[in-house]
Amino acid sequence: MKKFFKRVYWKICSIILRLMDEASDKRICGQSLVKYVKSVYRDDANGVGMTGSQSTHYIILKRIFSHVTITEKDSFMDIGCGKGRVLAFLLKKHAPCKISGIEINEISGKVAQEWTKKYEQVNVTLGDAFEIDYDSYTILFMGRPFLPKTFLQFIEHFESGLTHPITLIYWVDQQSGYLLKDRPGWEKQFREKLSTIHGLKVAQTPQGYSVWTYDPALRAEAQKQ
Ligand SMILES: C[S@@+](CC[C@H](N)C(=O)[O-])C[C@H]1O[C@@H](n2cnc3c(N)ncnc32)[C@H](O)[C@@H]1O
Repeated sequence: MKKFFKRVYWKICSIILRLMDEASDKRICGQSLVKYVKSVYRDDANGVGMTGSQSTHYIILKRIFSHVTITEKDSFMDIGCGKGRVLAFLLKKHAPCKISGIEINEISGKVAQEWTKKYEQVNVTLGDAFEIDYDSYTILFMGRPFLPKTFLQFIEHFESGLTHPITLIYWVDQQSGYLLKDRPGWEKQFREKLSTIHGLKVAQTPQGYSVWTYDPALRAEAQKQ
């Protein structure tokens, strides 16, 4: 019986979240970003561990970004932006900086490119996150774009191009976030697990997010010792 009520509660929360998300999507993007798009490359063992495009709920993004200050000097990038929910959230929040996203999946990426056309502040690239340099960004977001092995390969690529400190927000970090722990140059600023926000169940099992800073100077210092 308890299980039954839990299932009903989850169903009701999912419907409320969907309605709330769609209302914001339609206001900002002129369309819903709710529909899931399957991964086209999911083979972590061979270095192509890319996840599907699931848009993060606005209520979760609001909680996560309450731990990050964004100024006009920042430049933001969503690594694996899907259909662009995080970009929409930042527009909703009136983030004062340049907002970018990169997406490898053509179906999702084209949706993001299409609706963001009317916002000069936003730029979406259709392509592979492994093929760009991150040195012109200061705040980066990842909503679990990669499976663990691919995540580690990405972090190695990412670090190699950075010459200044950055902030990385990692949502759904429980599978691979630990790989940043004790890694030279990285410092965890905050971590929390989420399952309920304001009485609404936002995840069936608790999902973690963490906010990290990475400073290449600290890394160089640690490597000298
Ligand atoms: C779980 S979705 C997150 C979408 C969005 N960031 C959000 O939080 O609403 C992860 C996205 O990362 C994309 N992705 C995975 N590997 C990628 C790569 N190498 N380059 C660009 N995008 C990638 C996937 O196609 C997927 O759309």
